[in-house]
Amino acid sequence: MRQNQLQETPYQVRLLHTNEIDTLYSLNQRVAYDPASRHLLRPRSVDYLMKCLDPRTGFTVGAFHQEALIGYRAVHYTAKALHEIPHQLVAKEQYSKVVYFAGITVLPEYQGQGLASRMLKETLNMLKSKGFRYVTVGCNFTNQASIRLLMKHGFKTVYLGKPVEVCYKVCYLLNDLLEKAKPAEVPASTVFQDQTNTL
Ligand SMILES: CC(C)(COP(=O)(O)OP(=O)(O)OC[C@H]1O[C@@H](n2cnc3c(N)ncnc32)[C@H](O)[C@@H]1OP(=O)(O)O)[C@@H](O)C(=O)NCCC(=O)NCCS
Repeated sequence: MRQNQLQETPYQVRLLHTNEIDTLYSLNQRVAYDPASRHLLRPRSVDYLMKCLDPRTGFTVGAFHQEALIGYRAVHYTAKALHEIPHQLVAKEQYSKVVYFAGITVLPEYQGQGLASRMLKETLNMLKSKGFRYVTVGCNFTNQASIRLLMKHGFKTVYLGKPVEVCYKVCYLLNDLLEKAKPAEVPASTVFQDQTNTL
């Protein structure tokens, strides 16, 4: 178990404003094109990221160290192609209550200190208070750090009825915010061993 040192560290977590678009874009580009993580985080255009800052279309929680942006969790209200969500998971009339996670990252030197968890908690609380019910996210099939993080916070992997090749090796997860929170039961070893049969 890694230590959560946030109580003793000077990191701040807060909402990003639209005038911070350049900072957000730079961080996204830096991580998305870094050879160590470029298959994990998708590069996004300024327009796309702006939608994750504009309160009408989304919001983004940022983590700061000495006023430098060191991580973010972006939410886009409408980016997910809703027709991809099977009706047995989310009834059509609930689609207005679905939002899409549009990227999370923490710079490598700040990872393992609970920052992503903290941003995720803030984000889920905000979404609940705004009346949203479901959160969907797609992430690389092999991205254990991200999958474990999401599962720890109530996400479950879902099968969209497509073979792996069609999904481009993306694993989809869904969180029903109204479902009673249970303690995380994330397997200690590879989360995806079970999933290879279903995706
Ligand atoms: C995924 C990522 C955001 C996690 O950030 P982080 O601040 O290090 O995560 P936290 O310290 O808050 O960890 C929370 C939980 O996530 C999981 N986790 C995080 N890093 C992990 C790792 N390297 N291996 C396995 N699980 C990991 C664990 O369940 C952890 O809980 P624990 O500490 O009780 O075991 C970070 O690794 C990252 O930026 N990766 C590159 C970009 C990326 O993959 N984005 C996701 C796109 S979908």
